[in-house]
Amino acid sequence: MLIRPEAPADEPAIDRVLRDAFAARSHTNHAEVAIVRALRDHGDLTLSLVAEVSETIVGHIAFSPVSVAGRHDSWFGLGPLAVRTGVQRQGFGSALVRYGLEDLRLRDAIGCVVLGDPRFYGRFGFLSDGRLRYKNLPARFVQRIVFRGEPPTGDITYARAFDLA
Ligand SMILES: CC(C)(COP(=O)(O)OP(=O)(O)OC[C@H]1O[C@@H](n2cnc3c(N)ncnc32)[C@H](O)[C@@H]1OP(=O)(O)O)[C@@H](O)C(=O)NCCC(=O)NCCS
Repeated sequence: MLIRPEAPADEPAIDRVLRDAFAARSHTNHAEVAIVRALRDHGDLTLSLVAEVSETIVGHIAFSPVSVAGRHDSWFGLGPLAVRTGVQRQGFGSALVRYGLEDLRLRDAIGCVVLGDPRFYGRFGFLSDGRLRYKNLPARFVQRIVFRGEPPTGDITYARAFDLA
């Protein structure tokens, strides 16, 4: 497996991975393709990584800037994350998360938030302490990793591409 930043030629393959991975999910309105495209168009796709096997893209992860309590200082949001249905549970999703978090650290990020299942994201060090809020989502799904400084308190605002969600 190779993990690398997306290249322009990867865009159709990334769309296919997102469509395939989220097709069966009920908690979404299937806007993931449009969200990633809008992030790219708006210059908000801070980090876009693909997992590749034998030159086929099987997974994708996006990171984009978020504001926390109205402050825009090097906090990022993880998502969407997608692995093709035929190759899930083989470590691709975890590898994408770990690679992405390490890259953010190297960029001097302050922290990263994610909205998702704590049983999956907890293994990477994501934690819900109840201080961060996202709309009316239950607190346990609103998680963060702090790379430096104090854990923040307040509302998370994602890039405008996520208004499509
Ligand atoms: C979530 C997802 C990215 C995980 O990718 P993956 O390559 O299958 O994950 P890995 O193989 O690295 O890790 C698998 C582990 O995650 C767990 N896991 C996978 N999906 C999970 C989920 N939705 N909730 C809880 N745990 C999950 C598995 O139980 C497994 O744990 P185990 O090995 O201890 O049994 C993939 O299942 C996917 O694309 N799902 C559909 C899209 C989605 O829900 N994306 C996340 C929300 S943005």
